[in-house]
Amino acid sequence: MRSLSIAHGPVKVLALLHAALAYDNGMARRPPMGWNSWCTDSLCNLAGHDPCNEHMVISTVDAMVAQGMPELGYNYVTLDDCWSAKERDASGNLQPEPRAFPNGIKYLADYVHARGLYLGLYTCVGMKTCKGDRPGSFGHYEQDAKTLAGWGVDLVKMDHCGYPPGNHTDKELYGNMSAALNATGRPMTFSLCSWGEASVWEWGAGVAQMYRIAMDHLPFFNLPSMAAGQGLGQGTIQVAEWMAVLQPSLWSRPFGWMDPDFLMTLWGGTMDFIASRTEYSLWAMWSAPLLIATDVRNLTAEKASILLNKEAIAINQDALAHAADRLRNDSATGEQLWARPLANGDRAVLLFHSCLPGGAPRTMNVSWAELGWEAGARAAVRDIWAHEDRGVFSGGYTAVDISCRDVAFLRISKAAAVANGTRHSVVPGK
Ligand SMILES: *[C@@H]1O[C@H](CO)[C@@H](O)[C@H](O)[C@H]1NC(C)=O
Ligand SMILES: *[C@@H]1O[C@H](CO)[C@@H](O)[C@H](O)[C@H]1NC(C)=O
Ligand SMILES: *[C@@H]1O[C@H](CO)[C@@H](O)[C@H](O)[C@H]1NC(C)=O
Ligand SMILES: *[C@@H]1O[C@H](CO)[C@@H](O)[C@H](O)[C@H]1NC(C)=O
Ligand SMILES: *[C@@H]1O[C@H](CO)[C@@H](O)[C@H](O)[C@H]1NC(C)=O
Ligand SMILES: *[C@@H]1O[C@H](CO)[C@@H](O)[C@H](O)[C@H]1NC(C)=O
Ligand SMILES: *[C@@H]1O[C@H](CO)[C@@H](O)[C@H](O)[C@H]1NC(C)=O
Repeated sequence: MRSLSIAHGPVKVLALLHAALAYDNGMARRPPMGWNSWCTDSLCNLAGHDPCNEHMVISTVDAMVAQGMPELGYNYVTLDDCWSAKERDASGNLQPEPRAFPNGIKYLADYVHARGLYLGLYTCVGMKTCKGDRPGSFGHYEQDAKTLAGWGVDLVKMDHCGYPPGNHTDKELYGNMSAALNATGRPMTFSLCSWGEASVWEWGAGVAQMYRIAMDHLPFFNLPSMAAGQGLGQGTIQVAEWMAVLQPSLWSRPFGWMDPDFLMTLWGGTMDFIASRTEYSLWAMWSAPLLIATDVRNLTAEKASILLNKEAIAINQDALAHAADRLRNDSATGEQLWARPLANGDRAVLLFHSCLPGGAPRTMNVSWAELGWEAGARAAVRDIWAHEDRGVFSGGYTAVDISCRDVAFLRISKAAAVANGTRHSVVPGK
């Protein structure tokens, strides 16, 4: 049986070395949260719509503020590919697509900053961006860093397209952009998007505050196919399998977060309500950046119930920053157990019915021993999606009727059990 424990031996040495590498420029002490323009409406012209534009960004900012999202931690507003013109200006500077951003990027940054939010922009490590044939930053790292800093940008996402000729490593290229951003004197969150190439989890936190660990996550729950890059597929379930292989607790840390890509909350595809809620639970457990790629301008009740869940966000942003690992994977039933310790001594637990082998709703359990507690301990169980206390239990907890692709997302607390000392104990399975 695997249980939650502090890593020891060679693994601990590795983890400590990695901790020493984390690049603290004051940004992203906690996992970044916010919105990214990639999937909203335009899809960068992929779906034949207009590219992202000033109106879309401003209406999104207004809606985020009106719906109280900044108070919950959603404070990044990031423009993905297609914000820029297809040519640099006469001095070789990046410039926005003029029809889409008639007032320029500085105007947008001021608008965003006036509301206490951060502005993010996208570029590429190589010669071209991924969509629409726009200029990449290769050969212009210092120049582009200065342009972005001059506009007041707070986050720079650097994608992996248009890879330049020559024998360069990702570590060299992204390291150089990181140094260029640093040299501007403006602290910016660097979002490194090398699709998980070159074992980025081993060095990404040394140059960036977040780094993509795999190829793009697409709006599907189960999508084993892969484009370029690392990973085991592009669906939610494949991202989870890949995260289990990498062991998030070893790598993710303040100022250096593993990034499994955007949240596809109710995007369409196969990301229905249950799939989207499960996706959010996994991202929260991993301390992953919570970057919403769907429209947030008019949250439906379903979408709001996922994205505005304070208890789920609290797990994601927990001060201990100990990302969850998978403690159990039953390949015959599809049952997975993920767990993490929290700063106040509580545990966060995710019982996940992956449904890979298919099947009916399942009854799943977690034992206190798996959480690093003695079997006789009494602990109170809180259901994070139901917003309900389940009672005080000793030995463990059993959740019934978890349907295909669904989860039981729990916060388990010894301290809360003490506070409720007069309540009965239940031994699961009896
Ligand atoms: C530049 O790097 C140093 C050393 O890591 C860090 O302390 C500083 O905050 C960084 N400055 C900016 C502007 O990113
Ligand atoms: C590229 O760099 C690698 C690592 O430094 C080296 O082993 C390889 O020989 C180089 N290839 C070329 C074509 O220069
Ligand atoms: C990256 O920076 C190093 C150190 O300044 C430099 O030697 C190297 O040429 C740079 N690489 C590229 C591709 O510009
Ligand atoms: C928001 O969405 C609801 C439900 O889909 C719809 O009834 C309403 O008209 C929308 N409001 C705006 C301002 O788009
Ligand atoms: C975990 O279980 C799934 C089936 O639910 C299986 O496909 C996968 O290979 C298992 N992973 C490991 C690492 O055993
Ligand atoms: C503690 O007991 C109170 C009163 O019975 C109850 O409302 C609350 O949900 C309980 N809390 C937990 C964590 O079980
Ligand atoms: C917990 O679930 C496992 C796997 O399904 C099962 O073997 C075990 O008996 C269960 N334990 C309890 C106490 O229900």
